[in-house]
Amino acid sequence: MPADLVGPADLVGTGLELSICADVATVTLARPERRNAMTPGMWRGLARIGNALAGAVRVVVVRGAGPSFCAGIDLRMFSAEGVPGEEANPDPADAAFDESVAGFQAGYTWLRDPSLVSIAAVQGHAIGAGFQLALACDLRVIADDAKFCMKEPALGLVPDLTGTKPLVEIVGLPRAIEMCLTARTVDAAEAAQLRLAELVVPRADLDAAVSDLVAALLSTDAGAARATKALLVQAQGNTLEQQAAAERAAQAVLLAARRGR
Ligand code: CAA
Repeated sequence: MPADLVGPADLVGTGLELSICADVATVTLARPERRNAMTPGMWRGLARIGNALAGAVRVVVVRGAGPSFCAGIDLRMFSAEGVPGEEANPDPADAAFDESVAGFQAGYTWLRDPSLVSIAAVQGHAIGAGFQLALACDLRVIADDAKFCMKEPALGLVPDLTGTKPLVEIVGLPRAIEMCLTARTVDAAEAAQLRLAELVVPRADLDAAVSDLVAALLSTDAGAARATKALLVQAQGNTLEQQAAAERAAQAVLLAARRGR
């Protein structure tokens, strides 16, 4: 059981909560008093959850408690005092810098695993690391008060939590350049227009809309859903011939499994 692999004790101090109900895991950023600002401990906690859930659930919902989805990195990380109880920002002069940041990125990359479908439920602000977390998910269901901002360039940083690739893939290179290099805020209506959201709903309906989508995703065959996501994910990098071959191979596996039943 994945819940046994990552229990509440493992997540103490991470600002994360995990609940699992049958095939659905819900990961909650649970520091509403800081608008779910993120720390290294939270990123490492996300990676631990990802390791535990791999292959164990079909859908993962990522949500934020309180008025905002996520206000990005905890800005106290940039102060001399840092965040009490947290590891300091990695030092770029340190040989372990690259490995440290890769460890933080691992908190994001598992959300794209073909074995599951991830949904970000976004209300209020999704800033910097929070925007990138929403981008790490396969799908975004957003409230009509959602606001996205890639704030990093305004703070002298680049977005380094795996957000640049999905952003370019979704909105296109010119719009991604414009959004990031102005660090401007994109509201819910524009987010829908830019395909940053699959669904925009009134704030009060966000949880229900996510539940409906989860139910619809669970209504299809689990094996076929996983194989289809794997095909769709590789489609952009494949030629038509490669993709056609991948479709044949995937279908053969599914049909063989069906005959074996
Ligand atoms: N870090 C630490 N504390 C934060 C925070 C953050 N990112 N965002 C909000 N908080 C705290 C506030 O300091 C405040 O604390 P107090 O009650 O103790 O004063 C509390 O959360 C509530 O904040 P607000 O009163 O500002 O709440 P709001 O709802 O009016 O505004 C907000 C919400 C628009 C998100 C605003 O808080 C804000 O702009 N926060 C900063 C956002 C930001 O610049 N984040 C960094 C992004 S860049 C990044 O993420 C870099 C990276 O990955 C490497």
